[in-house]
Amino acid sequence: MAIKKILVTGANGQLGWELSQLAKTLPAYEFIFLDRRQLDLAQPASFEAIIHTIAPDLIINTAAYTAVDKAETEKELANTINTIAVQTLASIAKKNKIRFITYSTDYVFNGQSTTPYLPETKLAPINFYGQTKANGEQLALQENPSSIIIRTSWVFSSHGNNFVKTMMRLMKERAELKIVGDQLGRPTYAKDLAIATIQMVDALNAGKTIQGIYHYANQGETTWYDFASAIKANAGLSCNIVAITTKEFPTPAIRPTYSVLATDKIENELGIVIPSWEIALKDCMQILS
Ligand SMILES: NC(=O)c1ccc[n+]([C@@H]2O[C@H](COP(=O)([O-])OP(=O)(O)OC[C@H]3O[C@@H](n4cnc5c(N)ncnc54)[C@H](OP(=O)(O)O)[C@@H]3O)[C@@H](O)[C@H]2O)c1
Repeated sequence: MAIKKILVTGANGQLGWELSQLAKTLPAYEFIFLDRRQLDLAQPASFEAIIHTIAPDLIINTAAYTAVDKAETEKELANTINTIAVQTLASIAKKNKIRFITYSTDYVFNGQSTTPYLPETKLAPINFYGQTKANGEQLALQENPSSIIIRTSWVFSSHGNNFVKTMMRLMKERAELKIVGDQLGRPTYAKDLAIATIQMVDALNAGKTIQGIYHYANQGETTWYDFASAIKANAGLSCNIVAITTKEFPTPAIRPTYSVLATDKIENELGIVIPSWEIALKDCMQILS
């Protein structure tokens, strides 16, 4: 069945917002964006009635419990939103012949690899947030094997809370910033991820078989220190940035040393070329300036 009506959760998040901007240029699709007040992922019992009223052809679940450090203590809520809600959405989608796309994270891996993680790399969540996302992935696929799960990492956007906006604020306020320099990953521009998601929907409508786990992140890899240095250069700021080690910056949730996702599968299946994180950062900062 062709996908026309698309329900998007998490309307005010980075990815949800980028999808809402993109949606304005896509008259072939009818989008319904719901924020936390309209669809609360902490209330899975409410989903069925809301979804029946809207009757979408596809659910794109961008909402999530994303407070990685807080998840270490707010375990029940993180589990409800990232695991039970995802399982419930997948199950309702299956029952009603609705396609289902949801997102996951590089934190489902242990962070110890030295080569990029493949979609099929063995799961070993590095922290509780990662555990809730890994459980959500597995239960969604168990309930509904045609679910599509897109793992991503280091998400930034001109909208919402993220590293780029925090760095820009702090670099204006402070003379010096200490940034972790021994963690390697792939930044992801939510605007590019939104575009790739729609390319996936177009591919589904073209009859392509797409299901299971995919990785999406911008091309290239970097450290938080180098990412911060690029933000500083783009903004023309003069704050001194000092590289520190993970040990010098302890956080409640453990962070991965190596967090690079391999994106070949999504590139090959969709026939897309993912922009580099440097180009993506420039675009984002132009919007912010
Ligand atoms: N951000 C990252 O660096 C990152 C990295 C890897 C994977 N991911 C994954 O990528 C996806 C998109 O993330 P993002 O960066 O767009 O996240 P985000 O900017 O933190 O947005 C998350 C959204 O979820 C909403 N939300 C939280 N609890 C909710 C609830 N109980 N009911 C309904 N909505 C709720 C938030 O609502 P409010 O606006 O009301 O707070 C927010 O709009 C998520 O699955 C996330 O886990 C993100």
